Amino acid sequence: MESADLLVLNFARGLAREVGLLAKRRIGNLGWTHNKSGFYDIVTDADLEVEKVVKSEISNVFAGDSILGEETGETKTSSNGRVWIVDPIDGTTNFSKGIPHFCVSIALVVDGTPRVGVVYDPYMDELYEAVKGNGAFMNGEPINVSKISELKEAILNTGYQYSAAEYRDIVLKNYVAFFGKVRAIRVFGSAVLDQCYVANGRIDGFWEYNLKPWDVAAGSLIAKEAGATIIGIGEDFSIYGKTILVTNSSLVDKVLEIVNKR
Ligand code: IPD
Ligand code: CA
Ligand code: CA
Repeated sequence: MESADLLVLNFARGLAREVGLLAKRRIGNLGWTHNKSGFYDIVTDADLEVEKVVKSEISNVFAGDSILGEETGETKTSSNGRVWIVDPIDGTTNFSKGIPHFCVSIALVVDGTPRVGVVYDPYMDELYEAVKGNGAFMNGEPINVSKISELKEAILNTGYQYSAAEYRDIVLKNYVAFFGKVRAIRVFGSAVLDQCYVANGRIDGFWEYNLKPWDVAAGSLIAKEAGATIIGIGEDFSIYGKTILVTNSSLVDKVLEIVNKR
């Protein structure tokens, strides 16, 4: 691994742990919950606090880089091709009610491609990481996607935003189409952890429409480095696109065929 990548990785590990534990101390404070673009789209004071700390620490150490955060947008400092993409709390709806399934996601994207990704789940004390071309790890141990090749043995996960009514029909059609064909479908409520769970083989696949760069920048790199096949649905996959399907190479066509039954 190049020393510059190792520097970024070490920094991102420390930062993700620091703010993940900060968020853990704030969980379930409903007084901190505010509506964002609509009733179902919420933000908490903790999302804002974490994003502020993350942006400040990145700009102290990597002053020349841009930072894109979910809650405060892009801080443009230069045009060196390096953008840090941050989801301060992925799983805010869980977090706001005290459901301990959420994470912090930090990625360094260089010229549009994720180069380093770190995700920290403070309740499980699980730190996922990947550097492009160097494999994926959870708490320092290598991780790999599952070897399940039969749909009927697969546990899949999906997600959706209640605020995005335009996706309601396709979300429900997909869900019904899988009924009786897979072992189970889950909706855990953190797209980033869903990708990490594909990476470590806890689940066999994940798909979702209408995601944002901070939902996929770190998670997709970690899954890819763990051996996942990643495609878009009706579009090429890009962290700046909207859709993602992450699974292993034996399941991808089978899952896509059903997702495409509209
Ligand atoms: C959301 C979660 C959820 C997914 C939504 C995302 P947020 O992110 O990842 O699982 O279904 O599409 O917006 O708002 O908790 O950061
Ligand atoms: Ca998110
Ligand atoms: Ca978020």
